[in-house]
Amino acid sequence: MSSPDVVRRISSVAIVATFLVLITFLGLLASLRADSSHSSSASDDSYVHLMTLSEDDLALNKPNRRVIILGDVHGMVDSLAEILDATGYNEKNDYLIHVGDIVAKSGVPAALQSLDYFSSLNITGVRGNHDDKVIQWRYWIDEVLASKGGKKWLRQMEKSTPKQIKKYMKSGANLKAKWVIPEGWKFAEEHYWIAKEMSQAHFDYFSRLPLALHIPSLHTFIAHAGLLPTDTSRSHGSPLSRRPSKKRSEEKLRLEQEQALLHKISQNRDPWTVMNMRSILEGGDVTRKGDVGQPWSEIWNEWMDKCGGFDVSDLNDLTDISELGKETKLPCRPSTVIYGHAASRGLDVKRWTMGLDSGCVYGRRLTAMIITSDSKIHNRRPFAEDSEVEELSISHGETGRARLVSISCPEPPPES
Ligand SMILES: *[C@@H]1O[C@H](CO)[C@@H](O)[C@H](O)[C@H]1NC(C)=O
Repeated sequence: MSSPDVVRRISSVAIVATFLVLITFLGLLASLRADSSHSSSASDDSYVHLMTLSEDDLALNKPNRRVIILGDVHGMVDSLAEILDATGYNEKNDYLIHVGDIVAKSGVPAALQSLDYFSSLNITGVRGNHDDKVIQWRYWIDEVLASKGGKKWLRQMEKSTPKQIKKYMKSGANLKAKWVIPEGWKFAEEHYWIAKEMSQAHFDYFSRLPLALHIPSLHTFIAHAGLLPTDTSRSHGSPLSRRPSKKRSEEKLRLEQEQALLHKISQNRDPWTVMNMRSILEGGDVTRKGDVGQPWSEIWNEWMDKCGGFDVSDLNDLTDISELGKETKLPCRPSTVIYGHAASRGLDVKRWTMGLDSGCVYGRRLTAMIITSDSKIHNRRPFAEDSEVEELSISHGETGRARLVSISCPEPPPES
């Protein structure tokens, strides 16, 4: 072997080795960056998990007082105005609540108007999956803008075409850059621009929206996608299978059990699940797909239908309702979940679950649920003479009634 050959071989080994070390190092760096950007922009402590509404908050004992719960608005501000009008909403007299997804799918200006409305009146509500995407983008944007060179870099990136962005993400350049666009996030698309353009007041309002609302006096929960009555991974018995504690009043027992549903079932503490769940797969996994497995609302209703009051004996470790004998009851009292998110299933009213997303943004309907302490509500004359307004009287809770009002929404423009 001649000496130039040896040199060539040694140097090629050296090049390969250096290259490998460099790749490993860059990969490590990128994964560290990706991790840090994930944890700082989508961390669990950016969520308010729960807000409890007291009897005084609702004040349903006041004359003519109503609680109005709105389905997914998605920036459809004209329809929002219309339904508030159809229900005769009065800011001073009524308590308004939304089920999340107040923005997205109808453009940036509409989203900002929707945020203006909800934030200026500080309307109570929960965080939807689309709201969450906007909020997470805003955390990310604020972080980039706060670091040196961030503003310039962001402006450069925003000038890129969608095709260029796609290429940039695919090439791996994203992972080597100082600022990493998290995997699966859509840069410079609708959620991004809502996040960039919303005011600090919008953001403050948005980021304070809890993942779940609990209304003990109505034995009702509100969450954007839904909640589960049992740990579907089956690692713990359901809180509905055991009497909470001994000597307590019925109301205290119910409160304790409802709180256990929120705190002891791991899926109900998981932000993604509470904002995205549609069904439960055979093995117990939660999915956002609506056309596979079993809708979570069916599982909720199956369990609640089995509640037989607190004198029934404990079945401590029960996780699967199908293991329960036909005549056997559970030591619990039922509670209701009001939610949105599932537009493809349309208005979905079951005994213990109320799905209010009737697909306004897709040109279908916007729905509001009205709760009063007046038990005669279902006999009352309609709120509006308009034939476009539909009304329906439903059961709410064990003895209550509620009213559903819906209006038709405009057809979406062809491209959306
Ligand atoms: C909005 O309402 C929430 C909850 O009721 C409250 O904690 C918050 O202080 C209010 N914000 C403003 C700006 O009034």
